[in-house]
Amino acid sequence: MLDVNGIKRKHAERFGAEPAIFVAPGRVNLIGEHTDYNDGFVMPAAIGAYCWIAGSVRDDRRLLLRSENFGETVESDLASPSLRPTKSWSDYPIGIAVMLERAGFKIRGANLLIQGEIPIGAGLSSSAAIEVATAYALLSLSGHDVHGVSNPSRAKIARICQQAENDFVGMRCGIMDQFASLNGRERHAILLDCRSLEFEPVPIPKNVELVICNTMVKHSLASGEYNRRRADCEEAVGLLSSVRPGIRALRDVSLEQLARHKSLLPEVIYRRALHVISENTRVIESGDALKRGDVATCGRLMRESHDSLRDLYEVSCTELELMVELANKQKGTLGARMTGGGFGGCTINLVDSRFTEGFRQDIVRAYEYATKLTPEIYVWTPAGPAGSVAAEPVSD
Ligand code: GLA
Repeated sequence: MLDVNGIKRKHAERFGAEPAIFVAPGRVNLIGEHTDYNDGFVMPAAIGAYCWIAGSVRDDRRLLLRSENFGETVESDLASPSLRPTKSWSDYPIGIAVMLERAGFKIRGANLLIQGEIPIGAGLSSSAAIEVATAYALLSLSGHDVHGVSNPSRAKIARICQQAENDFVGMRCGIMDQFASLNGRERHAILLDCRSLEFEPVPIPKNVELVICNTMVKHSLASGEYNRRRADCEEAVGLLSSVRPGIRALRDVSLEQLARHKSLLPEVIYRRALHVISENTRVIESGDALKRGDVATCGRLMRESHDSLRDLYEVSCTELELMVELANKQKGTLGARMTGGGFGGCTINLVDSRFTEGFRQDIVRAYEYATKLTPEIYVWTPAGPAGSVAAEPVSD
């Protein structure tokens, strides 16, 4: 856990003002991969690793952004009509300011000192966390009421953050990461309907630990391939709507309908659609299983999800395959799969808590031996939602 007084002090030294503190967690997804942008279902949990922002308001309309992780300070002017992305970390906070204003929130100038503890580029949503923390900071410092906000306004903030990433940063992500950061519940995953944005907290059984294994690789094709997968899904919807005119997304197509109209789709597009539609079913079944404490069923569905992501959606890679294979050989592993967009990053493992330490040691040794890379293993208890540090906790 970060030293809050430390970042307050750094802020005061740099900007000569007393800051307020805002915080947003990263997320790990238990199941429901590449379903969010198809209006489907996901089951992420917020994790106990955060992006912290120490922020103070300014009298002008400038944004002074200091990243402690990158050791850089960037300045921009909210009054400028031509704020453009520069392919740097500052695109995230600047994109948020732009989208908040576009959504009708008047934003004041601010000094933001940003410090993240979520591994960057590991598929644990460090980007969503900086977006959400910035949104909270800018809204709150500009006098908008964000304390104890109800679910609809959290959903609205999530949409604005997603829009910043889609339209300013240029990554066509879905809503899952931002929503999970804004709506996390301690010791729970959240089962989210990405169309209605209704969600239900699902308890993680007491004797089970969520263990995240970082492969320490991120292949450069990740964001291009991600956008391409999304286009594949849109192509499937376009082709299927010639026979099913009411459909808006793959969410509206059943497995039977897909099978019936298979001949309309090129082979690759069919496989993409098959992954998404079957994954939606697995999310619902996993949620039901966890609710009745049936971890074995959840583990089986995680395995099926992983196989589908590898074979049908083609977003795995050798390092993820190795990490999952090693986990499946461990005593106490109840389920293992890649998590997040793919092409590197992390795996999520459900592990019987009696075996967590042995799991950790064996995985580190075996992965290191095979790849010469030292993996990081994180055991985080699912965390509560983003907010300002003094905010009231959100009730269910
Ligand atoms: C990334 C995106 C999410 C989601 C996942 C895949 O994390 O940001 O919106 O699409 O990939 O499930």
